[in-house]
Amino acid sequence: MAKLPFEPATGHLGPVLDVRGVVKRFGSNIVLRGLDLAVDAHEVVVLLGASGSGKSTLLRTVNLLERVDDGQIFLQGTDITDPRIDDDAVRARIGVVFQHYNLFPHLSVLDNITLAARKVHGVPKQDAQDKGMSLLERIGLAQFARQFPDRLSGGQQQRVAIVRALATSPQLLLLDEITSALDPVLVGEVLDLVRELKEQGTTILMATHEIGFARQVADRVVFLEHGRIAEQGPPEQVIDAPSQPATRDFLARVLR
Ligand SMILES: Nc1ncnc2c1ncn2[C@@H]1O[C@H](COP(=O)(O)OP(=O)(O)OP(=O)(O)O)[C@@H](O)[C@H]1O
Ligand SMILES: [Mg+2]
Repeated sequence: MAKLPFEPATGHLGPVLDVRGVVKRFGSNIVLRGLDLAVDAHEVVVLLGASGSGKSTLLRTVNLLERVDDGQIFLQGTDITDPRIDDDAVRARIGVVFQHYNLFPHLSVLDNITLAARKVHGVPKQDAQDKGMSLLERIGLAQFARQFPDRLSGGQQQRVAIVRALATSPQLLLLDEITSALDPVLVGEVLDLVRELKEQGTTILMATHEIGFARQVADRVVFLEHGRIAEQGPPEQVIDAPSQPATRDFLARVLR
């Protein structure tokens, strides 16, 4: 049966992303335990939590890389966990950057950026290249357009991966530990780009271990513990005055 194309709900004014009661299990391991989380347009939400608390799994269920066992996920008011919906059409509306291995090594930097626009969205080659070049100029890497990614530093590669994720003007950007594979000196340039995107109104859901960055950039910090939200709120509340023992323990360990 033909899959349904993704369409935002008519007249949708609610959150860009609305995760409702999501449960995800791997065998007997229940990784997300009925999780509710809404992300509004232009909001930057940072997921914090111990290793294994479910941050990556949550991001992967939103991008439909993992199927939920229960609950629903709405993107612009449309239930994207409906099995009839075309996954690729949903993914085309969501930009994703992971920790590493983001760029295709056999494609030039510019081709990496234009690929999805051309193949998924049918944007004409010249238009995609013009947009790709302007994105590269924005991050100061236009001179690398024709090079292969291995000529770039890790930080430059991640910045390319981020603008590649934006090349198709997604509704939502998912970032999973995008700086954790980088040398500390390169982390700043990647985080500066995320900060700039926030200023431009990009809607972002991200997992990071960079607490200082979360404090500066997050509109809301969501602390996960064993697949549940233990605590959430503005960073000055969750990071600087946590109310839950789990949050306090976690922060004490990472800020030590
Ligand atoms: N594909 C999978 N198959 C089986 N178990 C998985 C799979 N993916 C994740 N898990 C399990 O789900 C749990 C949550 O993992 P997840 O990667 O979401 O944690 P995380 O919060 O992102 O941790 P980290 O901070 O280390 O990145 C872990 O117990 C993990 O072993
Ligand atoms: Mg993870």
